[in-house]
Amino acid sequence: SRRSGGRPMKQRLLVVANRLPVSAVRRGEDSWSLEISAGGLVSALLGVKDVDAKWIGWAGVSVPDEVGQRALTKALAEKRCIPVFLDEEIVHQYYNGYCNNILWPLFHYLGLPQEDRLATTRSFQSQFDAYKRANQMFADVVNEHYQEGDVVWCHDYHLMFLPKCLKEYNSKMKVGWFLHTPFPSSEIHRTLPSRSELLRSVLAADLVGFHTYDYARHFVSACTRILGLEGTPEGVEDQGRLTRVAAFPIGIDSDRFKRALELPAVKEHINELTHRFAGRKVMLGVDRLDMIKGIPQKILAFEKFLEENPSWRDKVVLLQIAVPTRTDVPEYQKLTSQVHEIVGRINGRFGTLTAVPIHHLDRSLDFHALCALYAVTDVALVTSLRDGMNLVSYEFVACQGSKKGVLILSEFAGAAQSLGAGALLVNPWNITEVAASIGYALNMSPDEREKRHRHNYAHVTTHTAQDWAETFVSELNDTVVEAQLRTRQ
Ligand code: G6P
Repeated sequence: SRRSGGRPMKQRLLVVANRLPVSAVRRGEDSWSLEISAGGLVSALLGVKDVDAKWIGWAGVSVPDEVGQRALTKALAEKRCIPVFLDEEIVHQYYNGYCNNILWPLFHYLGLPQEDRLATTRSFQSQFDAYKRANQMFADVVNEHYQEGDVVWCHDYHLMFLPKCLKEYNSKMKVGWFLHTPFPSSEIHRTLPSRSELLRSVLAADLVGFHTYDYARHFVSACTRILGLEGTPEGVEDQGRLTRVAAFPIGIDSDRFKRALELPAVKEHINELTHRFAGRKVMLGVDRLDMIKGIPQKILAFEKFLEENPSWRDKVVLLQIAVPTRTDVPEYQKLTSQVHEIVGRINGRFGTLTAVPIHHLDRSLDFHALCALYAVTDVALVTSLRDGMNLVSYEFVACQGSKKGVLILSEFAGAAQSLGAGALLVNPWNITEVAASIGYALNMSPDEREKRHRHNYAHVTTHTAQDWAETFVSELNDTVVEAQLRTRQ
């Protein structure tokens, strides 16, 4: 390995994702205030063992002037972050358009946009062009910072074009790509007009990773059926070159949650909540306000449960935290009004002068408040229509000490593959089934709760975000070495 002044130099890792883990607020012409999001994913990616990591991405703000860009770049450097500057038009076409109006719904089986077909088809091409241009801008920044021997890890559906751009700059660059969403069945993927170009550019990577074995299998089938390439147990082969494809299920930093629960402020918050909801069972949903999360379906299932079980009406409360997201995309705006309408109707129907069955919050909670909420929850409802993994289910389990609450989990979340034996699995589209599971969960015997919780807790505390990141990076290093050996033979 390389050395500097007699010491072995750490390998450098460049993490590339659409978004930097910061929120940046401009305070003056050349001053910025930055807040780093301290999530488990961030500490896992920036804290891979024996690796010196930097994060490249969009800061989430438009900075048209050079003075502002220079100042922000400098401020971010202290946080090991490197910005990619995207102007408003590109953000509109690439992020709101191609990423969140086309790829995101498609990968979650919600199909391509159907209204105003002609307009969509016309704008499709310009959005795809913007997507490619944006990916090229990310590649330019990576290339500027790249040094020989670095590992480059690209993340998510925003950057499917990036592996190809990077390899065009330098075919020796070690490039990995990981998808945080599901990869859909090849029959869904083949409806996408740019299906082949995207697959080919992902295949330029050395290692391609997914949360589950099924997503990896769907990707390989898409490459065999759409591109006519050969799928092997190792990955996809194209004219003697192998792209390794494998599953790397993500986890959380469970210790961070356990530590938070020991803090006096969090304990106090737990006491307050326990007091506030005394005599009622607490059910909890925590989701970004996104159509894939199945929030309307979940609330309708809760309504059905209340309808069929009058004796529970004043004994259970549903707390739904719905974090606003992608608010410039019309589909998300529609969803917000739809959810408000349903919640209002149900609270009007089953509420009393002093209590309502659903508390719906359109905002996020800070980390400590969230931990306290998880800790007092009796039943968590994670009923995504499709979800790459869903770490809310993991976080809930990590915060359930002696309480041993029940997890109701969609069979269409990646987490169903790891927490399936402990959770009550449901088809979120089947409101009757979800309502019945709510009843089953609320009435579950302490023995069964204990058994189910033990299974989940063991998994969540032993498959951490740190392990995930380290496994991916070491596998990427090995993949490149193996490929070099093959070409030498
Ligand atoms: C999903 C995606 C992430 C994305 C996050 C928040 O989890 O897989 O890549 O960052 O949603 O969405 P946003 O559009 O606000 O970045």
